[in-house]
Amino acid sequence: VNALEASDMYTKGHSERVKMLALELGRYIGLDVRELEILEQASILHDIGKIGIESFILQKQGKLTSKEYSLIKLHPLIGEEILGPIDTLESVRQTILQHHERYDGNGYPYGLRGEELSLKARILSVVDTFDAMMSERSYRKALPLYQIKEELGANAGSQFDPYVVDSFIEMLNIRGEMLLSLAGYAKLHAVL
Ligand SMILES: [Fe+2]
Repeated sequence: VNALEASDMYTKGHSERVKMLALELGRYIGLDVRELEILEQASILHDIGKIGIESFILQKQGKLTSKEYSLIKLHPLIGEEILGPIDTLESVRQTILQHHERYDGNGYPYGLRGEELSLKARILSVVDTFDAMMSERSYRKALPLYQIKEELGANAGSQFDPYVVDSFIEMLNIRGEMLLSLAGYAKLHAVL
């Protein structure tokens, strides 16, 4: 993960923050210890497949061509492939494979939908997107927290599992400030 982050500066700290928040959300929703362990590993490794993608594409500023975008869309499959030989838990690989699927079936790589996706992948997807919106990009600033919550809410039922989004927003409303500063957002987000 450090090699990945070194080659792709804007993901710096991304996996760590996603891991921390995904675990909190998993606990909040009531996953058992074993499920949490799988979620933890999958969160740390979810973008490992980007190692197999040319860094000029990952770092490109401005619009990707459709060919470049289809290469990026391979990273869940590459990640699953990379982890295959290491005898990683099957569920870790499955969660990584599914982290860009959408609740409505319009995601990738397979277009699985709803309960066809593991709950862990549905959790990872919400937290991964949350972190992306909390982070500054070359083409935009970090979004304010209220707007991120609105955005997640607006995509509940389409991109995201509504139950997971509701639980996440509820958790943030109860103890978001503490969680977010523990996860390391204070350094990177003006609101905190
Ligand atoms: Fe990803």
